[in-house]
Amino acid sequence: MTQTASRKILITSALPYANGPIHLGHLVEYIQTDIWSRFQKMRGNECYYVCADDAHGTPIMLRAQAEGIAPEELIARVSEEHQRDFAGFNIAFDHYHSTHSPENRHFASYIYEQLKAKGHISRKTITQFYDPEKQMFLPDRFIKGTCPKCKAEDQYGDNCEVCGATYSPTELLNPKSAVSGATPVEKETDHLFFELDHFGDMLKEWTHKGHLQTQIANKLDEWFESGLRGWDISRDAPYFGFEIPGEQDKFFYVWLDAPVGYMASFKALCDKTGINFDDFWKQGSDAELYHFIGKDIIYFHALFWPAMLSGADFRTPDAIFAHGFLTVDGQKMSKSRGTFIMAKTYLDHLNSEYLRYYFATKLNSRIDDLDLNIEDFVQRVNSDLVGKVVNIASRCAGFVVKKFNGKLADDFSDNAKSLYQSFVAESEMIASLYEKREYGQAMREIMALADRANEYIDETAPWVLAKQEGKEAELHESVSVGINLFRVLLTYLAPVLPETAEKALGFLQLNTLDWNAIESPLMGHTIQKFQPLMTRVEMDAVEKMIEDSKQSMPAAQPQATAPAAANADIDPIAPEITFDDFAKLDFRIAKIVNAEAVPEADKLLKLTLDIGLEQRQVFAGIKSAYQPEELVGKLTVMVANLAPRKMRFGMSEGMVLAAGPGGKDLFILNPDEGAQPGMRVK
Ligand code: 2FM
Ligand code: ZN
Repeated sequence: MTQTASRKILITSALPYANGPIHLGHLVEYIQTDIWSRFQKMRGNECYYVCADDAHGTPIMLRAQAEGIAPEELIARVSEEHQRDFAGFNIAFDHYHSTHSPENRHFASYIYEQLKAKGHISRKTITQFYDPEKQMFLPDRFIKGTCPKCKAEDQYGDNCEVCGATYSPTELLNPKSAVSGATPVEKETDHLFFELDHFGDMLKEWTHKGHLQTQIANKLDEWFESGLRGWDISRDAPYFGFEIPGEQDKFFYVWLDAPVGYMASFKALCDKTGINFDDFWKQGSDAELYHFIGKDIIYFHALFWPAMLSGADFRTPDAIFAHGFLTVDGQKMSKSRGTFIMAKTYLDHLNSEYLRYYFATKLNSRIDDLDLNIEDFVQRVNSDLVGKVVNIASRCAGFVVKKFNGKLADDFSDNAKSLYQSFVAESEMIASLYEKREYGQAMREIMALADRANEYIDETAPWVLAKQEGKEAELHESVSVGINLFRVLLTYLAPVLPETAEKALGFLQLNTLDWNAIESPLMGHTIQKFQPLMTRVEMDAVEKMIEDSKQSMPAAQPQATAPAAANADIDPIAPEITFDDFAKLDFRIAKIVNAEAVPEADKLLKLTLDIGLEQRQVFAGIKSAYQPEELVGKLTVMVANLAPRKMRFGMSEGMVLAAGPGGKDLFILNPDEGAQPGMRVK
């Protein structure tokens, strides 16, 4: 077995926002990272895994205001909840910090001042929307209005979910502040910009030096082609964040100090333990630095962050490991289907080891999305973990304890030794799969070994030997080898199943499951009475969790609320039209013959409408109010002579009439009974 010299490794996961709970989508990343961190530690490397809450920004400020508390109180509460949830999934951070910390203020300010001193910061006057009621500048996401391209209503200030257009908020028609409902006004303000293009050459080189997955490096090339623009790093008061040194009422944009939070958290760990900070962060450091992130935040980690670090004379990361998103049963997580599952709700019903294992079987080094298929989840955990792995121990332990006082055989036959060695011989192959983050492949290799171990037990049949006279030695070897193979398997699975591994240590009477300890089998060693290490997943518990998830939705985030819902906002009457304009509209009764969700769009359903003479496909923004299946068979009214429009997801050939304030209260207008598809509505 090869043992390379110990490496120094610092690992991070993306910092979760401090205004919402941890859900299973988040956990893909924390589980992926935790497995890697535990693996590195088991291999004897000096490895640290740090994280923190991402505590700044407008949504957090507004959320605290809505709750009537100080932002500090909100972030303290959320931090506790996050840490409780992470602990429930055995995510073993070496330190968990906050971006609202003295260490982070220090490093964010230091990096900024370095960049400024080297001429990488510029000042520009920009025009931004301002909420005259709330007296604050509005981030794009806090402005809603009508899309300038396709005229879809209730679209965010930066892009249209219906036609996919991107634009600046000042181009929106009928813009409204999502905070107060007021009509925003344009106002000039000075902002500070980080001149990313000064780092163009450095970034082009860095992104092609093996620090990024290929798909991502290719994506970055597209961004390079469209040119690197200055990055706006300042926000005006009121803002919850750090004031920019040397400026008045200007704060660092949350994304400036978020990645700096990796450093800050590590610094706090250094201060607590005496680790040398510079060994990990100074330029030319021989320590390795890895950031695990979701594919949606690549821009920040693969462009801004390396540029900031290099501009301030820190080392850059060895790699950014991006992963895809979680789907449940092939669809985006959905609140109404109960598949938007909070960490806490999961833990109320199920063992965290199940999910850790299931995600491991699905994880690889690419950025493809990962599906949690509920039936497959139950079946895989039961068949692999309970049926194969734990079963090995439960088949053997009883005999060891009852017949041999808990003592394993003192020696094995050559055949048994070579079987054991064949398991140990897979060690480096499995280690290299973990190292490459090919966990799915690693799990398949380990389960193939579990099958072999079970075959061995079937072949030697200890329950038969136990009934025969003079077969004690054979029986003793069979069950002792079984227990030893189980120990090897548990060692290989320990990064994924820390709790089961811990219980197995107790049962096997061992202090450690270090990767290399398996080189020598346990002989003449005494074990304890077997306790079930894991029970089966019951479909009942899964169903209850889904039911609970439908009930226990977190309070809506400020950015998710419809504009001024609190003000019972009614849109102003549109400009007057003539009778002739009106007469041009052809309203028809339409029967909804099919309805399905558009997974990529939050609001849209794809409807197939029968209007007597023909069928039409129409995209309607009513997903928040209806399950597709509820609509099938219903009659509605459509505008049948609207010119077809090409949308991002296909052609929309008309429009259905719906009314209501939005969200769940949006009603398809049901025409009277007796109406027939195709009838004209007058
Ligand atoms: O996207 C997010 O959830 C951010 N809070 C991630 C920040 S990662 C790092 F840069 F801090
Ligand atoms: Zn549009």
